Amino acid sequence: MSANPIVMDGWYIGAWTDEVGRTLLQRWICGRPVCFYRLSDGTANAVEDRCPHRRYPLSLGRLGDDDVITCNYHGYRIDGQGTCVGVAEQPDVPRNARVHRFPVVERHGVVWIWPGDPDRADPADVPDLPWLADEGWTHVKGMVPLKARQVLLVENLLDLTHETFLHPTSIGNAAVAATPIEVVGEGNRVSFIRHMIGIEAPPFYRSSMGVTTDIDRWQDGDFFAPGTFVLNIRIAPTGTEEPEGFHMKVFYGMTPATATETHDFFALGRDYRIEDRELSEFQLAQQLAVMQEDIDALEVQEVMVATDPGMVESSIRSDVAGIRGRRLLDKMVKAEAAARGEAPARPARPQRPAAAAGGQAPAARPEPARQA
Ligand code: FES
Ligand SMILES: [Fe+2]
Repeated sequence: MSANPIVMDGWYIGAWTDEVGRTLLQRWICGRPVCFYRLSDGTANAVEDRCPHRRYPLSLGRLGDDDVITCNYHGYRIDGQGTCVGVAEQPDVPRNARVHRFPVVERHGVVWIWPGDPDRADPADVPDLPWLADEGWTHVKGMVPLKARQVLLVENLLDLTHETFLHPTSIGNAAVAATPIEVVGEGNRVSFIRHMIGIEAPPFYRSSMGVTTDIDRWQDGDFFAPGTFVLNIRIAPTGTEEPEGFHMKVFYGMTPATATETHDFFALGRDYRIEDRELSEFQLAQQLAVMQEDIDALEVQEVMVATDPGMVESSIRSDVAGIRGRRLLDKMVKAEAAARGEAPARPARPQRPAAAAGGQAPAARPEPARQA
């Protein structure tokens, strides 16, 4: 088996809590078909969505009151552990008739799934998003399919200078690209801090918060590899002391569906006007509009990357966080391949030439290969 370009050993959002019920739900996670459902005791469950008989999707079968799925092709009966407990045609069950049961943890309205080696799944490593269940906060949420590899979304979120150019009518203005970031991080985390002081409010904040004066805008992002990103936002009239001001958090659950497709889960939370449903509807529409601009960009970028995967890109200072995120994922993919005793997935890319005109490269090291 060749090395997988996707990080498999990690907690990814597989579904929102309210998506998982007694109706079988198929969703591809990291190249694997998964059948999500809820056992009769309320526990979220996930098994490989490929019948051990002739690979028909179990999600097209029937879930019984006994929590057994009956395959709709020839009638294999698969229990919540993924074990075949009966076949219609004969009394004995083939010994290898079972499917993989994925580790699953449900917390704060999120069903997390571990698509890789189950022995390495530790529930203590599930990303902690308590504000999704905090009474002092409210949020809107959803998921948008993206036809681009996950790393492009990771880099998009780790370099928000693109807001100036891609989102000028909503959340972007010149101040974003003009304000440098500080990048920190350790282990599986890459974080950046961007504090814009005394700037004009972008259109989205003027309309949703009624801000008319200059503002201080904080935009601090945390990427928890392999698939979680949280943007912490603070907006306040210039000079207002923390903790005063409007606070928002945007969670992105970036779950690879395949090597070149990604589930773009999101939740946009706020700690002000939490009863205001009209504002929630406005923010949801705004968030989806902003995400569509990103999706349109990433999908055409995917075509350009796929048709010239070896191109040596030029980079500038604001790419530091994105490059760290890309390298982190690449390192995790290689570590998983090494643990399986496989050769590295790809040869190293050629040495990048000196920084191109327009900016300094953040580091004089070779560019890492992309994830796929
Ligand atoms: S494919 Fe499921 S029983 Fe035959
Ligand atoms: Fe964006």
